[in-house]
Amino acid sequence: MKITVLGQGYVGLVTAGGAAAWGHEVTGVEVNRERLLALQSGFAPFHEPGLADLIEEHLAGGTLRFTDDGAEAAASSKLTFVAVGTIDPSQRWDTQTIRAALAGIVPHIPDDGALVVRSTCPPEFVAQLPAFVDSLREQAGRHAIAVMLNPEFTKEGTAVRDFLQPDRVVLGIGSDPRGRGVALLREFYAHVTTPVLVLDAIDASLSKLGANLFLATKISFANELAALCDLYGSQVERVVEGMAYDPRIGGSFLQAGIGFGGSCLPDQVTMTVRDATARGQDTPLLAAVELINSRQRSAFADRIDSLVGGAAGQRVALLGLTFKPNTDDLRAAPSLDIARALIAMGATVVAYDPMEAARRRAEIEVEGLIVVDDVIAALTGADAVGLVTEWPEFVSLPWSSVARLVARRIIVDGRNALNADALVEAGFIYSSFGRGNRVPAEFEARPAAAVAAARRSTQVGLELVAGE
Ligand code: UGA
Repeated sequence: MKITVLGQGYVGLVTAGGAAAWGHEVTGVEVNRERLLALQSGFAPFHEPGLADLIEEHLAGGTLRFTDDGAEAAASSKLTFVAVGTIDPSQRWDTQTIRAALAGIVPHIPDDGALVVRSTCPPEFVAQLPAFVDSLREQAGRHAIAVMLNPEFTKEGTAVRDFLQPDRVVLGIGSDPRGRGVALLREFYAHVTTPVLVLDAIDASLSKLGANLFLATKISFANELAALCDLYGSQVERVVEGMAYDPRIGGSFLQAGIGFGGSCLPDQVTMTVRDATARGQDTPLLAAVELINSRQRSAFADRIDSLVGGAAGQRVALLGLTFKPNTDDLRAAPSLDIARALIAMGATVVAYDPMEAARRRAEIEVEGLIVVDDVIAALTGADAVGLVTEWPEFVSLPWSSVARLVARRIIVDGRNALNADALVEAGFIYSSFGRGNRVPAEFEARPAAAVAAARRSTQVGLELVAGE
């Protein structure tokens, strides 16, 4: 099937590459000249595992091409997907970009084609969409077309796999009187064996929003549970394991730590709370989700501050900048707030991330942050180490060697990802979110009361370090 995908960001480019992998004939439309040239030369403009290979293979095979001429591409396509940005940097809906994009292509879509909006849109806009498209068609003297929604549920880092093997496909009908939109989308997704749900457009859009809000809620729940685990001297992963066999609960997305970042969950929680409140509907659960999430970031900085006995003048190594591993995306990454908080406390913050693009961006975004190009440079002379992103290369660091590089053996594991036993063995005071604080064996020999206190209190941990 000939298809066009307008907007070659994370969502659009994965859709274009994945569709080409299914054998469709795909035109990706990108108006940003620099990005277009990169794509036409076979380069992925961001890091997403498997995507660069798809682009290279299908560009060479001729089933994928990139252009800035959306009108020409849409004119010869059965399905025209729209995947342009809909949120501005100040966390507000921006529908101007998508309206302008639609005005440019909708008049050119063939009468037997369909428009498919894949961007995440505000519910009000979804409700207005069919009438807006109809008016664009009328003004151009053309027949009405099917107007469909097809929200995406892919995650950065595994987006290609999520696209090719989705757990469900949601189709939303904005306007499809002859059933053409549903029929074409079913043909487009012919390779998918999981359920294809056909909903009203508004239900489809809210199922996308609902999914993200629920995932954010799970994470904040896990973080509150972790605080309880620290209070009672318990291990949050064990606790979650004990809960997860109940199919009503499940075990995924209950990883405690510094909370959620990225371009989706934080914005969608914040915007939902704000928009619903403005319309007179309070959302206390989501407000708490947001509060817990921001508190995790400050708690991480405070933990370091307390462990080193005041961060001012101390050197802190931050391991990881991206909002999660396997991406170079820094949008709403916890690292940025954490680095700013520590710098405001007077610390010298030295950060490293395996993704060069993230390193360069962080230097621009966080004033005063020192970004280094290898992990050893970050760790050398550190008074405290903070794990911010659980990249495999950090998880597998040889901690007994790292112990000789740092000035003081203090580590705060913001992702509960490190081997606490190995760290304690290497002489580190280990602090986490829901796994308690652990101190090395030499301190264990101290009077039982002090050791028991040290397990619960970072302050005692600090005194023990000072005693060393
Ligand atoms: C999220 C959703 O997971 C996707 O289903 C959705 O399609 C996408 O948003 C979107 O709306 O486009 P993404 O932002 O790529 O995907 O990343 P997630 O895997 O959801 O992770 C978000 C954040 O939560 C990361 O910072 C991650 O470290 C954190 N997280 C995740 C936790 O703190 N704990 C967990 O248990 C899981």
